[in-house]
Amino acid sequence: MAKSQQPIKDERKTIKIFDTTMRDGEQAPGNSMNIEEKLRIAKQLQKLNVDVIEAGFPIASDGDFEAVKKVAQMIKGPEIAGLCRSSEKDIDRAWEALKYAGEKGRIHTFIATSDIHMKYKLQMEPAKVLASAVKAVKRAASYTPNVEFSCEDAVRTRLPFLAEVVEAVIDAGATTVNIPDTVGYTIPFEYFNIIKYLKDNVPNIDKAVISVHCHNDLGLSVANSVAAIQAGAGQVECTINGIGERAGNCSLEEFVMILRTRRDILPFATNVVTEQLTPASRLLTTITGIAVQPNKAVVGANAFAHEAGIHQHGMLMEKTTYEIMTPESVGLLSSALVLGKHSGRHAFKKRLEELGHDLDDTKLNKAFDRFKELADLKKEVFDEDLDAIVSEESREEDHYKLEHITVTCGSFAVATATVQMEINGITVRTAELGDGPVDSAFKAIKKLTKSKAKLTQYNVGSITGGTDAQGEVTVRVSDGNHTVVGKGSSTDIIVASAKAYIHALNRLSYKQKRLTDAV
Ligand code: KIV
Ligand code: ZN
Repeated sequence: MAKSQQPIKDERKTIKIFDTTMRDGEQAPGNSMNIEEKLRIAKQLQKLNVDVIEAGFPIASDGDFEAVKKVAQMIKGPEIAGLCRSSEKDIDRAWEALKYAGEKGRIHTFIATSDIHMKYKLQMEPAKVLASAVKAVKRAASYTPNVEFSCEDAVRTRLPFLAEVVEAVIDAGATTVNIPDTVGYTIPFEYFNIIKYLKDNVPNIDKAVISVHCHNDLGLSVANSVAAIQAGAGQVECTINGIGERAGNCSLEEFVMILRTRRDILPFATNVVTEQLTPASRLLTTITGIAVQPNKAVVGANAFAHEAGIHQHGMLMEKTTYEIMTPESVGLLSSALVLGKHSGRHAFKKRLEELGHDLDDTKLNKAFDRFKELADLKKEVFDEDLDAIVSEESREEDHYKLEHITVTCGSFAVATATVQMEINGITVRTAELGDGPVDSAFKAIKKLTKSKAKLTQYNVGSITGGTDAQGEVTVRVSDGNHTVVGKGSSTDIIVASAKAYIHALNRLSYKQKRLTDAV
């Protein structure tokens, strides 16, 4: 590890970072990942040096199970957690996948404890919920001493009952107790008091680490997490780019940079290598196709951009006038022209690694060929172009593949698209008329794939400046049960559109397959 990448560590309390990008994060619409994509994220989380990686919900589907198992087998360093409800079947299945991590495998089991959840969702009396929690923790502890228990909707749970459950599960063997704000309802002052109440009223609380898990429905997930550690929590659950159910979870990069930047008043540290934050954020965006808002703290495109003249002047005189943390500290490399058509494979690979893309040899070769093609078309190839190339060329073998597309259109012609695809190894071709080139191309693809899914969103943008820039198309497609995002890039925007649509249809078919596996 380079010297500048050493985590800051002294007498401060080290807060454990529990990353749930691949579990809670993946639950958000459009964020689904396949096994190979999860492994790439897990490798980046290993570089970030998070303490715990929650890799999935093993009983949810065969795909989830395999992903947790692969992460448990391949990732060294962080603990690997798998989520399960408080049922024996869930817990047994979770351990089946987690056992490959040995003592680093963590069973994370949960049950809801608020009156509203117990009455309407579980339809269980509190005493029964308490008994289930204890039984589940005992079952988990028969496999491993590394057991986390979550009181779902803890923030809306009656405090004496919350304390009773926490005490009982610690007695039963839980070594981490999580107090989630499942619905993103609390505010810092209240959350501080809940954690403090548990510290003061649960006699065995010091035998477990208190964890917090905050959702962002009111935009307070990061602030609430900070308040919780001030009250004594020792673990924070978070996600890259803050992705997660509904409005998302506590953003890992924001929480970690708050501790680093405000170390003057916050006596805490994490083990996170902050220089890996930007690569982690970019990698996730590349995989899910969902970009972060430009003004997002820490990793947004404008997070370190100074536009106003007076700010620029101040920055030139002394950077700290307007910069509370450096771009380098979050791994933001000065983005300029990076590569051209004479750049070699070695330089290409090195730059990809700096950007957080670790590809195996086959994928690297595909990506390099594509880079060479692009460098022939375009004078300058930027980091954003490389992200787009990796996003496409690192995809797993797809069900639907685009082979060729030709479109004729113009002010007088009726737009006509001829599309040739490979579907399950068979080449198929058709032509369709449409209301413009994109419509005709999508109609042809729809006909070939026999897809019933609805296109709900279509956006086209350019990846960088200049008329030779690659166009990047993002589409959203829904089959009524699932919504997925697809992305495609090319210097030809019709080709980019076709790629994006086919990407979305591939993701949808993966999701549908997962659902079939689960039933
Ligand atoms: O939000 C929540 O309560 C959860 C638990 C399962 C930890 O995600
Ligand atoms: Zn959650």
